[in-house]
Amino acid sequence: MGQGGLRALAAVVAVVGFGLGSCATASNALNLTLLTDGVDELGARCLDGSPGGYYWRAGSAANATKFLLVFNGGGWCYSLEDCAARAKTNLGTSTLFETTIQGDGITKNDPGFNPDFSSWNVAYLYYCDGTSYGGNHSEPVQVGDQTLFFRGLRILEAFLDHLQRHRGLDSATEVFLSGHSAGGLGTYMHADYVGSRVPAGALFGAIPDAGFFMMNNTVGGRDLYPAQIQNISRLASVVGDADCMAANAAEAWRCMATQHALPFVSTRLHMIQSSYDSWQLSNIFDVSCTPKYSNNTCSANQMDQFQAVHTTILGQIRATNSTRHAVWSDSCIAHSQAYYGDYFNNPSWQMSARMFTPTNQKLLTNIAVVRQKKGGKRFEIACFKNKVLSWRNKVEKDIDEVLQIHTVYTNVSKGEVAKNTDLQKAYGTDDHTKICRIILDKGELQVSKEERDAQLGALFKEVATIVADKCIDPATERPYTAAQIERAMRDIHVSVKPTASAKAQALDVIKKLAETISIARASMSVRVRLPQREAKRVKPLVLPLTIALEHEDWDDDLELECTIDPGTFRALTELVGHETKGQGLVEILSVKNVAEGDEVL
Ligand SMILES: *[C@@H]1O[C@H](CO)[C@@H](O)[C@H](O)[C@H]1NC(C)=O
Ligand SMILES: *[C@@H]1O[C@H](CO)[C@@H](O)[C@H](O)[C@H]1NC(C)=O
Ligand SMILES: *[C@@H]1O[C@H](CO)[C@@H](O)[C@H](O)[C@H]1NC(C)=O
Ligand SMILES: *[C@@H]1O[C@H](CO)[C@@H](O)[C@H](O)[C@H]1NC(C)=O
Ligand SMILES: *[C@@H]1O[C@H](CO)[C@@H](O)[C@H](O)[C@H]1NC(C)=O
Ligand SMILES: *[C@@H]1O[C@H](CO)[C@@H](O)[C@H](O)[C@H]1NC(C)=O
Ligand SMILES: *[C@@H]1O[C@H](CO)[C@@H](O)[C@H](O)[C@H]1NC(C)=O
Ligand SMILES: *[C@@H]1O[C@H](CO)[C@@H](O)[C@H](O)[C@H]1NC(C)=O
Repeated sequence: MGQGGLRALAAVVAVVGFGLGSCATASNALNLTLLTDGVDELGARCLDGSPGGYYWRAGSAANATKFLLVFNGGGWCYSLEDCAARAKTNLGTSTLFETTIQGDGITKNDPGFNPDFSSWNVAYLYYCDGTSYGGNHSEPVQVGDQTLFFRGLRILEAFLDHLQRHRGLDSATEVFLSGHSAGGLGTYMHADYVGSRVPAGALFGAIPDAGFFMMNNTVGGRDLYPAQIQNISRLASVVGDADCMAANAAEAWRCMATQHALPFVSTRLHMIQSSYDSWQLSNIFDVSCTPKYSNNTCSANQMDQFQAVHTTILGQIRATNSTRHAVWSDSCIAHSQAYYGDYFNNPSWQMSARMFTPTNQKLLTNIAVVRQKKGGKRFEIACFKNKVLSWRNKVEKDIDEVLQIHTVYTNVSKGEVAKNTDLQKAYGTDDHTKICRIILDKGELQVSKEERDAQLGALFKEVATIVADKCIDPATERPYTAAQIERAMRDIHVSVKPTASAKAQALDVIKKLAETISIARASMSVRVRLPQREAKRVKPLVLPLTIALEHEDWDDDLELECTIDPGTFRALTELVGHETKGQGLVEILSVKNVAEGDEVL
């Protein structure tokens, strides 16, 4: 639970105790810290001379030693004139930085959406040097009436100094560096340096997103992006990975080019890189037509160019060929996918079953076996986990996504293929594919003990969550957490049944628990107040969290009186706080016991 969650829980107590009160805003915000010390000590300045800055959100107490460091993106400036123009924007001066930003994707503080990092410390370095945090040019540069500074590397140093002095980075146990776009390139360039600044025993890795920029001419043959990068690398005295710099003393720009720098990076990387990177398509390759943005009107020649970019990016990623690193490379026309809600943790992502093809028996371990007895014999087929049910309810229609291999076995784990004569006898054919289909449709899905245990564990948690949602402790009028209910269920040795629904079992569990702890079904009546400006938009988000809307009043602000489950109160206050930026309000009007014998949950 993040600190926002703890504050919200405190608000539940206060509100119930006193009958009214306001909700805490769920804090997804990150606040700006300016690196003013770094200006004096290191000369760490944005293009215009202002101090660098980063946004900070502290993690939960339990994860206080885990850090996600992020480099913001925003392209580059490529010439002095270009950089002078940039110095007047929020990509070149911290005087135009907002005081807070909201997390999204990998930086969002929502554990459901972002389970791995939501409760970590997040330090989001903002981009104002135009050179992927690499500029290390000591002398200021005069351009017309502007004085420019190329000091990205010193901003990075000042950032790490500040985190060590003020945020506990020097006692971190886990640190991940990430960054997107120009910050993704910065992640490749500086991963080893950042790694050298975290404590020796800490786990360290880097997640560059959309930072693998191709050093290619445009599809028309013009030297555009490579010339631009070479220019700015020289103008700003850009510094990249130390080993890369040592090996490329005469051509330092190569260390600002992922494909050349990568072999020198020893930090373990989890790269995220679309093979149809939308920024590169237009800005490096000058491909003017893409199916997504041009309503499928591209000519055959344009489609060839589009595919050539895909081949180039994928080829370059494949050439990495290192067992140190992992790659997530998809085919979305997109850029910076870990940072924007649409792509990050999208439930429609599904690993293709074709990720590997079993070539021998050994690989057939991560499988689901479906078995059918026929003609006195047992036949088995090997399927991909989780695919059998989606085939049966017709969500998955491609049999190759379901079957590991078109072969019928007598024993999958031994790799014993069924004899054709036996198949003939039982099925009247020895066409393995046909028989696979029959077994897939009619056979019995085998579930391993581990899977069964995992399913029961999940069901146990689900029952506990329902109980926690629906009940309070009548003595204090406070809801229980699911963890408290789980403990109480263990104490009285509740065992869940895989055959009954979680809801039905929750009813039983409440009755049993009531014999040992103070617990009762309850509903809450709450008033939700939404400011007029937000009301139309937010109301439809509020309703799904309620059991019933009792009354609404559109006079000035919108006031909704609703009945909710006690367990929903926190989610509701967080939603309203977030969606109305703290202007909305949720107050408890009353807590009602739900009548005994009401069997409906
Ligand atoms: C950000 O600043 C606001 C206002 O000063 C403060 O209420 C909030 O707690 C801060 N948030 C974080 C994450 O530090
Ligand atoms: C490189 O920078 C110089 C100096 O600002 C500029 O005149 C030139 O056009 C730039 N070249 C490219 C390829 O951007
Ligand atoms: C701490 O972070 C881990 C992920 O690294 C997460 O699974 C866990 O729930 C977090 N703990 C808390 C108390 O937020
Ligand atoms: C950055 O520039 C300073 C001053 O020229 C130099 O002493 C330092 O070694 C440079 N840093 C790197 C990493 O090259
Ligand atoms: C895209 O093409 C379809 C079919 O040709 C057409 O109906 C639609 O208006 C087009 N949309 C745009 C935005 O051009
Ligand atoms: C990118 O450059 C490589 C190396 O010169 C070349 O083989 C490839 O065809 C280029 N890709 C495109 C799309 O032009
Ligand atoms: C990748 O590396 C392995 C081991 O170093 C090598 O055997 C293999 O041929 C390489 N693959 C490619 C495509 O270069
Ligand atoms: C298949 O072979 C494995 C490994 O020898 C064995 O444990 C399993 O019981 C056999 N399955 C059946 C259904 O006989």
